[in-house]
Amino acid sequence: MRVIVVEDYAALSQKAASLTADQIRQNPRIVLGLATGSTPLGLYQEWVEMYKQGTLDFSRVRTFNLDEYVGLAPEHEQSYHTYMQQNLFSQVNLRPEHTHIPSAYQADLTQVCKEYDERIEAAGGIDIQILGIGANGHIGFNEPGTDPGIGTHIVQLAETTIQANSRFFARLEEVPGQAVTMGIRTIMKNSRQILLLAYGEEKAEAVRRMIHGDISANLPASYLQLHPSVTVIVEKKAAHLLDEIACGTADALTGR
Ligand code: GLP
Repeated sequence: MRVIVVEDYAALSQKAASLTADQIRQNPRIVLGLATGSTPLGLYQEWVEMYKQGTLDFSRVRTFNLDEYVGLAPEHEQSYHTYMQQNLFSQVNLRPEHTHIPSAYQADLTQVCKEYDERIEAAGGIDIQILGIGANGHIGFNEPGTDPGIGTHIVQLAETTIQANSRFFARLEEVPGQAVTMGIRTIMKNSRQILLLAYGEEKAEAVRRMIHGDISANLPASYLQLHPSVTVIVEKKAAHLLDEIACGTADALTGR
């Protein structure tokens, strides 16, 4: 894993944007895997700025989102469909038919999951997969205990994840208990490069275990140690439990 420690959230977003924008320019038909949550918001703002300045073009870019809550209509204000529309899709020249988010509002979710993996494969896989990380080490919505051998699937959200995500909902009871998520296998097998972003003290232990800990279903992000091309951009509060090799440097390389 390549670990880049940065000073603050703005630097994290700018670093992520510059790394990805270079690749989008080199490969205008790039396939991006996109994440939600608060972490990638700054990256998406940077992309929007670049687009508005005429330095980044999304007209041929294709995207696949990691996950969606089960049972929320796409137009629900907390659905990840709405999140993506508001924070990126409506602000750049991505074509609607080039964007993909699991449709977790349909009756036959098993079919939705199967077709989602097929679509990713038909697109030739994902060139850069953006990931955040949950405080419990989840990636996408792959909670601790997830079988790493499965593709896109329906998950029961951990109580801690429901609590954490309740900040976006009016009441805790409104947070859906289930989601459709790309599986660990989907992410590991289909992504050529992975860019994981982490900030905030509450992510520090998960980041430490992801990089230095055992590879285990107890911390799903630890499977990324097995992927050949992972870059982690981590803000210093989220990095403070890392070994010295990664801490305090702007561009450090580290292995296990
Ligand atoms: C959410 C999403 C993940 C995200 C994570 C962290 O539940 N499903 O894709 O990475 O939790 O969110 P945040 O960036 O808001 O801390």
